[in-house]
Amino acid sequence: FSLKNYNTFGIEAKAKEFVAVHSVMELKTLLAKTHLVPKFILGGGSNMLLTKDIDALVVHVDLKGKKIIQQNDAYVWVESQAGENWHEFVLWTINQDFGGLENMSLIPGNVGTTPVQNIGAYGTEIKDCFVSCTAIAIQNQEEVTFTKEQCHFGYRESIFKNTAKDQYIITSVVFKLTKKNHQINTSYGDITNQLAQKNITNPSLKDISNAVIAIRKSKLPDPKELGNSGSFFKNPILSKTAFQPILAKFPEMKFFEISATQVKVPAGWLIEQAGFKGKRFGDAGIHKNQALVLVNYGQATGQEILEVSKTIQQTILDTFGIAIEAEVNII
Ligand code: EPU
Repeated sequence: FSLKNYNTFGIEAKAKEFVAVHSVMELKTLLAKTHLVPKFILGGGSNMLLTKDIDALVVHVDLKGKKIIQQNDAYVWVESQAGENWHEFVLWTINQDFGGLENMSLIPGNVGTTPVQNIGAYGTEIKDCFVSCTAIAIQNQEEVTFTKEQCHFGYRESIFKNTAKDQYIITSVVFKLTKKNHQINTSYGDITNQLAQKNITNPSLKDISNAVIAIRKSKLPDPKELGNSGSFFKNPILSKTAFQPILAKFPEMKFFEISATQVKVPAGWLIEQAGFKGKRFGDAGIHKNQALVLVNYGQATGQEILEVSKTIQQTILDTFGIAIEAEVNII
């Protein structure tokens, strides 16, 4: 079974077996029936690089449905099943004037995978609105709820990438959104510029969403047109002590203070400075508008993209003395 249409990099890789599940019942039954079979869980396929065929039963989580589960004057609690497309879910909340997710418009992937890497963009992360998620334990099919605290969210990190890795299948997620007094976040320069261009001084949720959509479309390739997985690397976080001598050597280096003791360096800047932006190696390449994004021009294999990523990592380490780490899951 070809997984080419199930990963946004558009990599040709084969699954030994493939099954899509459409309800929690179906999922539990399948897990019980196949408890001895190695499994690989697939959501939207938007944050992974397949470097080989999958010698396992690929379980595609295709649970649909979204609804309001609770509300008061100020807030609404919405629940989405894991297989809902993230951006469609965001638009559904914005169209009802529910605030909180607007800065995360147009991020590829499905709702069920958003907690895994605590997706974020333009000054917000899902942990800001996240209440809980429900998951099925692969081992015994038990239904477990993870609260926000239990998820151990960090920058593109959660328990699902660490101690709970490969043990659970997230089936639904609950978010708490505002019904009034929306906390509009225009801290990000690109958003301010977009709004200024349109002479918008008092932006609605829809205005913010539209600004984010315009920014993303100008920088980030549409996976339907050019295979990619968003940012391939994380922005490295360095202690100020370690960063001091680096900055002394490269005074023009961009950085953002994230705490009293740490800075975050934009990996896209490092990669661009190292001369990789827009470069192409066969069908694998570095996007021309965003150096943090690796792209598949059509026939690249996962191995070829992985090789390019390793060359970039080594060059950045040799040039700047900074180690950059992949954000996407390398399979
Ligand atoms: N930059 C360059 N050259 C580039 C790209 C970026 O010099 O080719 C510089 C920019 O000038 C800017 C800085 O790097 O000063 C930051 O760039 P940008 O605003 O494009 O954001 P980013 O740090 O590259 C992160 C997230 C994105 C998210 C944006 C906006 C990570 C790994 N990536 O990218 O998330 O959309 O901020 O908030 O944190 C993703 O995770 O897949 C993703 C796309």
